[in-house]
Amino acid sequence: MENKFSGKFIVLDGPDGCGKSTQCALLGQWLAQNGVDIEIFRDPGGTAIGEKIRQILLNPEHIAMSTATEVLLYMAARVQLWAEKIAPALKENKSVILDRWLSSTCAYQGHAGGFGMEKIIKIATDSLEKPWPDLTIILDVDLETGANRLSSQPDRIEAKPREYHQKVREGFLELAKGRESFVVVDATGDIETVHKKVIEVVEKI
Ligand code: TMP
Repeated sequence: MENKFSGKFIVLDGPDGCGKSTQCALLGQWLAQNGVDIEIFRDPGGTAIGEKIRQILLNPEHIAMSTATEVLLYMAARVQLWAEKIAPALKENKSVILDRWLSSTCAYQGHAGGFGMEKIIKIATDSLEKPWPDLTIILDVDLETGANRLSSQPDRIEAKPREYHQKVREGFLELAKGRESFVVVDATGDIETVHKKVIEVVEKI
């Protein structure tokens, strides 16, 4: 069925433990119930190449990895995901939901890692056909709430110090400022409360 949610590229992003994977699944169900053909992917991941890059990025043994290497690997996985999965799905007028995207590289590597958001945006603009989604929802949580929702086995990025994660949160909020396609949602509530807020935002798309 053709409707106003078809062919949209929607990203849910935010600090670790913000609940975006759960919210992506719930948003996907809601859109499907509303007659939209959808695809959900995680970034990094979603392709055979991207999942391998994800393993390299998140392996806690890779402590030697520089921020610039992180930037390029996250971007490489994303470019592959775009070419192999997202672009074809959008072409078929499906809606695509992404669990993280360029906004994460801006907040983590750009702001918290000190690489610089503008440099990252430049690399993305040069390598992606559509760097910015139609809608990016930032699920904002404080450090304590986020940490309590994480598993006891942190990956390489989750294991970074508290100050890093504080900057990640600041980075997301800074990136959202003044960007029309970004909406910040308070994600400290329970799953159903946050889901309702996400739907309210998507309905205005
Ligand atoms: P996930 O577990 O939420 O899928 O994300 C994997 C980890 O990678 C998470 O700690 C956030 C981090 N990350 C970055 O540092 N930069 C990025 O560009 C992306 C997409 C994720």
